Amino acid sequence: MRILITGVAGFIGFHLATELSKKKHQIIGLDNLNNYYSPKYKSQRLNLIKKKKNFKFLKIDLKKKKNLISIFKKWKPSIVYHLASQPGIMYSFKNPKTYITNNISATKNLIDVSLKYKVKKFYFTSSSSVYGDKEKFPIKENSKLKPINIYAKTKKECEKILLKFFKNSNVDLKIFRPFTVYGPYARPDMIFITYMNKISNEEDFFLYNNGNYVRDFTYVADLVKILSKFLKIEKLKYNIFNICSSKPVKVKKLIDIINANINYKPKILLRPYRKGEMIKTYGCNKLIKKTLKFNKFTSLEDGIQKTLIWYKKFKNKDHLYFRKVKYK
Ligand SMILES: NC(=O)c1ccc[n+]([C@@H]2O[C@H](COP(=O)([O-])OP(=O)(O)OC[C@H]3O[C@@H](n4cnc5c(N)ncnc54)[C@H](O)[C@@H]3O)[C@@H](O)[C@H]2O)c1
Repeated sequence: MRILITGVAGFIGFHLATELSKKKHQIIGLDNLNNYYSPKYKSQRLNLIKKKKNFKFLKIDLKKKKNLISIFKKWKPSIVYHLASQPGIMYSFKNPKTYITNNISATKNLIDVSLKYKVKKFYFTSSSSVYGDKEKFPIKENSKLKPINIYAKTKKECEKILLKFFKNSNVDLKIFRPFTVYGPYARPDMIFITYMNKISNEEDFFLYNNGNYVRDFTYVADLVKILSKFLKIEKLKYNIFNICSSKPVKVKKLIDIINANINYKPKILLRPYRKGEMIKTYGCNKLIKKTLKFNKFTSLEDGIQKTLIWYKKFKNKDHLYFRKVKYK
């Protein structure tokens, strides 16, 4: 199969390309390598997948439709995984325009070109943040969407546009709503790497909402396995799926698990709730489990240990002592 992945130099895109390149697919990866966070870090991920013969990287911006057309003309992908996006919650209040262009306009361009070149499957990564703050848990896919930040509002709008434009087409559209993803090569603006960098630089760490945010952490290898399994699934009655381990924990617990594995603890400075951040995310994953017969989600303890082993090697931080805690 010829598979196009947008946002391939990003955290999840990189893992998905790695997973799919193990099979006999031709992967075409697109990314504009923007500087929301270090383009060097993105290139480090890319250098690992570029070694694969069935992987081709093209640096393009989805906002430029002309370039997209020439790629589709040449490579004729039948499957599109659309992961490129401007992520980040706090940054969406600082620079809302980049969310409108990189999420909404870019997605519209990709839809137009995908329809024109008759792709068969179109997979979009939305986000759990479209739900906003809820009172009833676990959150099901049919729960009302009440986004509380600009990032989430643009994701909700993308979902709406996708459902509208693909409605009367033959394209098999799937919309995925992942919940807080972590793992090796994670995004540096998210809690895991932020915390680890504070440890390795021996700096203080700000813990917002006094550590009482609750997150349904999802290990990246589970997510990309799930995304890749959809290739074998035909059209279904449902097209929106939560992707989460459905095991919510307080952010403070994540810190405790990391600390149990490491010899240095940074000073933690408690900070209040920040507007726009969800208090609790806890998704229902029954639909994805039933659809794919996928039952083995990585435990937070195992996922953290794997990520710590990667971090130590990647950052060349031999002085970080790991205690190798054994979990049952
Ligand atoms: N990481 C998570 O916890 C999480 C949770 C839910 C949903 N998601 C969604 O999953 C997707 C991947 O997230 P991620 O964490 O890997 O983010 P990421 O920022 O690491 O990856 C996104 C990539 O898209 C690229 N990009 C952005 N705008 C582009 C454009 N106009 N043209 C071409 N490339 C562009 C960026 O350069 C980046 O490499 C995103 O859609 C994100 O909203 C992520």
